Amino acid sequence: MGGEGRIRYMMPVTIPELYRKKAAGERIAMLTAYDFPFAQMADEAGIDVILVGDSLGVVVQGLDNTLPVSMEEMLYHTRMVARAVKNALVIGDMPFLSYQTSVRDGIMNAGLFLKAGASAVKLEGGSSVCGLIEALSRSDIPVMAHIGLTPQSIHRMGGFKVQGKGDAAVEKLMADARAVQDAGAFAVVIEGVPRQAAKLVTAELSIPTIGIGAGPDCDGQVLVMHDLLGMFDRFVPKFVKRYANIKADAVKAITKYKKEVQSGKFPSDKESFH
Ligand code: KIV
Repeated sequence: MGGEGRIRYMMPVTIPELYRKKAAGERIAMLTAYDFPFAQMADEAGIDVILVGDSLGVVVQGLDNTLPVSMEEMLYHTRMVARAVKNALVIGDMPFLSYQTSVRDGIMNAGLFLKAGASAVKLEGGSSVCGLIEALSRSDIPVMAHIGLTPQSIHRMGGFKVQGKGDAAVEKLMADARAVQDAGAFAVVIEGVPRQAAKLVTAELSIPTIGIGAGPDCDGQVLVMHDLLGMFDRFVPKFVKRYANIKADAVKAITKYKKEVQSGKFPSDKESFH
């Protein structure tokens, strides 16, 4: 039976599929999305994992950091994304203070992400959040952990600074990685660490590692949609690669529209009813 003429359906990405990819050495592509059209584009492009990241506070809301983002806002965006996605695994990012207060709060808020259409949640922290990761795993709420540079710890870190530099910091990173894996996390984001440190952790763990600013040796990569598309230019971290320049293109298009309105070129007869 040849494959020719047969329709190939994309299978929805599941957590077991991510494990399979790690075992097979197939890299995982993860991207953030915050609303229907962008989630649809990511999904149609075949992205494996779509994260409704609390980075929306910075790239959508114009805040300086992610700390003010609320559960209500995250659920609002998660619903839009979930409505658009047919294949990717959708993960809701738990905002600051939605899980730090107690395990009960963490379970209740994580559960709301699943009710909003996500299949898993992501939360920041290593050994310190293992009790919650265990409780969520027992409640069948899959958890992606996030270690290294954790943006919700900006004040403790003294800014968005590369973590995992030096022997002691690498040991701490490794201990956090092992701890979240043992607690039941199905994957872990490693952010803002030297590539050698991320490589060591990736070799050590049986769960997939997803890097951002962590070099090429992780099992997958994640970027913020607005960075990848060139829609956010307040600051551009070193680890970002721009694959398009949507902001410049959009400003050009809107300027053209404005000029055509002013000159009377738009709307023409073609765009008019008769
Ligand atoms: O909030 C976010 O978008 C993230 C990713 C960059 C990992 O945490």
